[in-house]
Amino acid sequence: MAPSSLARCSFVAAFVAAIGAQPLDPHFYDKACPAALPTLKRIVEEAVAVDPRMGASLLLLHFHDCFGCDGSILLDDTPLFTGEKKAAPNVNSVRGFEVIDRIKAAVNDACRGNVVSCADIVAVAARDSVVALGGPSYDVPLGRRDARTASQAAANASIPAPTSSLARLASSFASRGLSVADLVAL
Ligand SMILES: *[C@@H]1O[C@H](CO)[C@@H](O)[C@H](O)[C@H]1NC(C)=O
Repeated sequence: MAPSSLARCSFVAAFVAAIGAQPLDPHFYDKACPAALPTLKRIVEEAVAVDPRMGASLLLLHFHDCFGCDGSILLDDTPLFTGEKKAAPNVNSVRGFEVIDRIKAAVNDACRGNVVSCADIVAVAARDSVVALGGPSYDVPLGRRDARTASQAAANASIPAPTSSLARLASSFASRGLSVADLVAL
């Protein structure tokens, strides 16, 4: 496979191998690739400087991926499955995929290989976006595995849509351990 396609999170093959089931850890990449997080932060800062709304978009992308947190929202359609990009709650709503692909390419370069998962990139990009826009920082536990498949039906069913009722919004956030205060903030 060409290096350019390996670097893209939108391809199913962009998964991280050889990570066992371990608890997530903010220092997951400290040894394997100390340059990963600074590189990621730099690309997010550049993207937000050009288009401040991109910071909000990258946070929204993480939120919509995180009814799973596995990078499945990044996957394009394949003959084997229909991806989540055109699911009802995502279409005309989530954006920033090209920034994620740019981060993935830069991080792969900095790490000399496919070290950081796309799911972790989405999670850290959301944090770095919040910080770039003047918000608070927080630790992001890392070590997520990337999905190798996606489900449009599950995305349709589980991601709360802007048209959902308050009761439905509150219950779907509660199912992910998020409070009504979290719901309002997001
Ligand atoms: C998901 O929702 C979209 C938009 O309403 C619809 O076109 C699509 O058929 C749905 N997909 C599934 C698998 O139900």
